Amino acid sequence: MPRINEHYLNLKASYLFAEIKRRTQAFREAHPEARIITLGIGDVTLPLSPAVVGALEEAAREQARAETLKGYGPYVGYEWLRADIAAHDFGVRGVSVAVDEIFVSDGGKSDSANIQEIFATDCVVALMDPVYPVYADSNVMAGRSGPADESERYAGFVYLPCTADNGFLPALPAGHVDLIYLCYPNNPTGAVMTREALARWVEYARAHDAIILYDAAYEAYIRDPEIPHSIYEIEGAREVAIESRSFSKNAGFTGLRLAYTVVPKEARGQTRGGKTLGLNELWLRRVSTKSNGPPYVVQKAAAAVYTPDGQKQVRALVDHYMESARIIREGLRAAGFTVYGGSNAPYIWLRTPAGLSSWDFFDRLLAEAHVVGMPGSGFGPSGEGYFRLTAFGSRAETEDAIDRIRTRLRP
Ligand code: MLT
Repeated sequence: MPRINEHYLNLKASYLFAEIKRRTQAFREAHPEARIITLGIGDVTLPLSPAVVGALEEAAREQARAETLKGYGPYVGYEWLRADIAAHDFGVRGVSVAVDEIFVSDGGKSDSANIQEIFATDCVVALMDPVYPVYADSNVMAGRSGPADESERYAGFVYLPCTADNGFLPALPAGHVDLIYLCYPNNPTGAVMTREALARWVEYARAHDAIILYDAAYEAYIRDPEIPHSIYEIEGAREVAIESRSFSKNAGFTGLRLAYTVVPKEARGQTRGGKTLGLNELWLRRVSTKSNGPPYVVQKAAAAVYTPDGQKQVRALVDHYMESARIIREGLRAAGFTVYGGSNAPYIWLRTPAGLSSWDFFDRLLAEAHVVGMPGSGFGPSGEGYFRLTAFGSRAETEDAIDRIRTRLRP
């Protein structure tokens, strides 16, 4: 019998979102009459925009004819899509990203789980706390964490607490770390990072030869013109930052699957013997071996997002979800909750009522309002006492959920 990767034994029994699904299903079976509203996982509810659907249909028709059939595509994504990304997501902000620095993939989740593979297993990882669980779990699987203690903290990670006390902006690590995961606009707290704060991280990374893994999946939700959309807006970031973006939350591709990661040519790592190597080269080698690129039809759909119609339609989707965020934020405030986020991000982060842990509040919300949310402690120890709601639910259900919380569950 082969030996297993025992680092898996250091993981929590189940992935956070799977656990939420399991508990929701158990409640549904016990209370078949309950009309449950899910504002837990950040999954979109609005249909794909007409520009995207048109491109999907056209691409499907191309696949139906031998003359236009596309087989294997480039490992890293088609050049026409990468050129659109470079121009529309970066060029318009005065940021220069070359086409061969862009790697198109099947999702931000896969990219953020996989990127750690090109780094040594003894790299010291710094994680925001609370954090999107994929960053932590993928590093646990790779053996960088060791076992968790009773408060579910891993001795091998450096935690960067993000609480109301620091405005959900972590302090720089006290010592040296190699890899730093930052996500802004933040999942789960809905916070954003100012240009000055981000510049301090870039400065830290440069001083410590660290690499920042910057997850900008929620960039489209930034409303404040002072907030940077890309880490590459900060001088010196190209040497020390890898940035990922996704089509899931702006264009509603959670079901289609498409994302990309930028690995600048200047970003480098070294061998134990001190030889330096480009991370772009390493990631290219990894992607060429493990992927044949996302489906052609999905890449065509993504390119449609950058057409004038696509841009307008996608903007309307984001505006719609931002209005839902406002409804949740203001509704909860009116009901007496302390609420954060939801102004430049599709997540609302609230304090649980006094004396209730995050999971207690999850249970109470489900039992009394039949509303599913995300317990803050599921995202990390510093999330205890907080709770996350998503603005991606349908408008009618969102309004209904807030109404139920207001009438059945005052803090
Ligand atoms: C979330 O709810 O945090 C995200 O939707 C999960 C994901 O993107 O995988």
